[in-house]
Amino acid sequence: MKLILVLTVTIKLAIVSATDTEWWKTALIYQIYPRSFKDSDGDGIGDLTGIKEKLPYLKSTGVDGIWLSPIYLSPMRDFGYDITDYKQIAPEYGTMKDFQELLKEARKLGLRVILDFVPNHTSNESDWFIRSARREPGYEDFYVWADGIVDPERPGEVLPPSNWVSHFRRSMWEYHPGRGQYYLHQFAIGQPDLNYRSQRVQAEMKEVLRFWLDLGVSGFRVDAINKLYEVDPNDYGGVYPDEPLSGISDTDPDDYEYYDHIFTQDLAETYEVVFDWREVLDEYTETHGEYKIMMTEAYTNLFNTILYYGNENRDGAIPFNFIFLEEINKNSTARDIKTTIDKWMTYMPHGRVANWVNGNHDQSRLASRQGPERVDAMNMLALMLPGVALTYQGEEIGMTDGHVSWEDTKDPQACNTDDPINYWKKSRDPSRTPYHWDSSVFAGFTCGVEPWLPVADNYKELNLQVQLRSRRSHYNFYKDVVAVRKTAASKYGDLGILAYTEDILVVTRLLPNARGIVGVINLSNKPQLVDLSSVTLLPKYLKVVASGVNCTQTKGFILLKDYIIVSNNCALLLQTISRCC
Ligand code: NOJ
Ligand code: MG
Repeated sequence: MKLILVLTVTIKLAIVSATDTEWWKTALIYQIYPRSFKDSDGDGIGDLTGIKEKLPYLKSTGVDGIWLSPIYLSPMRDFGYDITDYKQIAPEYGTMKDFQELLKEARKLGLRVILDFVPNHTSNESDWFIRSARREPGYEDFYVWADGIVDPERPGEVLPPSNWVSHFRRSMWEYHPGRGQYYLHQFAIGQPDLNYRSQRVQAEMKEVLRFWLDLGVSGFRVDAINKLYEVDPNDYGGVYPDEPLSGISDTDPDDYEYYDHIFTQDLAETYEVVFDWREVLDEYTETHGEYKIMMTEAYTNLFNTILYYGNENRDGAIPFNFIFLEEINKNSTARDIKTTIDKWMTYMPHGRVANWVNGNHDQSRLASRQGPERVDAMNMLALMLPGVALTYQGEEIGMTDGHVSWEDTKDPQACNTDDPINYWKKSRDPSRTPYHWDSSVFAGFTCGVEPWLPVADNYKELNLQVQLRSRRSHYNFYKDVVAVRKTAASKYGDLGILAYTEDILVVTRLLPNARGIVGVINLSNKPQLVDLSSVTLLPKYLKVVASGVNCTQTKGFILLKDYIIVSNNCALLLQTISRCC
């Protein structure tokens, strides 16, 4: 009896001590846009088996986890962000068995799988929506329904409940003849917003989280979180109040930017829901032996963003750092970049985990946004700053935006412009073109029919295979920096940022013994001499551990800290060494 007790206690202790509660704090998370990553069955659309085939590549790159953009059953009006059933896999991406095999393979390789959780809206083809439109008991208030306003000019006709305009243009309200009411959609007409004032919706969405957690996923990226609530008409005399104009003159009244969205985003209620989800995830930490990560997507101001972290009473999520993505551009100086990094580190609540986002499927690719010459610099920064690093597929090889003609355009945000000339200003297709694996037809993305979006023109010169073979490439540099990311200095070293000049940015991560790493970036088009003797803690000798495509030094070179020549647009990663040779 005694022995059994001792054994149970020991086993329990073993389980507890095996729980990995730290992995996420320094994780490198690689975003996969499944439709465009790798097609295994030749239908021109990427799929789960394609992703599984490429897991060894991601492992060898040094990635810790993959975040998959939505893989669920969907009519694909917004390419998976319009979900018919949260618990089924889209047939074009595979089956539940394929997903489980992907998970198994990932686990074998030590890679974690993170899913996209899309709580704000479903597809209008979802069973919930169909039932709600029919006013089936229990489902009546699953969505945001409202009566129209009687049109004073045309008696018998109704107008939308308010002037609210959707992200993808035109009214946020769509009339549903079956129900005789309008429903709200922050995005496409096919994406009705769920009603978070319904406790049943809240409960169902927690069940969705549990369903995937039970299967063994390591966490979620949460879509459009700040759109979860709109104001309650009961607080406004029973009506939905109109939103004021933003004052941005060069847009038209059908455009989202035309209005200031004070009633349809960032509502205080949102945060409590996130904290509740955090609790659901925390239920799994011990039983699954790992902390489950949650990252929230909200394009909003810094003040509203950092609230997602949580407070003294409740834990929250890692809010995506979009100032890193949005404020830094082609013309940013070293001082600008330092200011942006400092801003996040300053406003982030103490003890929370930072993160650095260089791109995603909604933004122009890093190499196009910032210029190909800044790819190494920005990748190195995201990878060497403290906290979580996020890489959107293709950034490790510096892929650029593809050209997608009006005829080939698929993104609803672009299609809704109805404008064959200016559609590209709204289009997210250019950053969603297929991944460039090699120089073969369709860049090795598919062996079958034409891909769902055209492959970018430059794939023959810019692809993974070419970069794997060349001595200096964005990929090889990226991989070298990722390897250094696994060291103690990169994980725990104190952060120092020095805007040496307008052109030179220096980032240090030093441990108490003054061991550590130094990133030196030259943003200019000419070589520069950098003297780091003012960084007193830094030892005299530094070894090159990663050298960007524009640098002259090779890996293994020893440099003196007071005499570092950095060629134009070069990003160098150096490690302290105690002795010269
Ligand atoms: C953000 C997603 O990243 C984007 O692709 C999508 O269109 C909207 N949310 C709506 O789900
Ligand atoms: Mg909403």
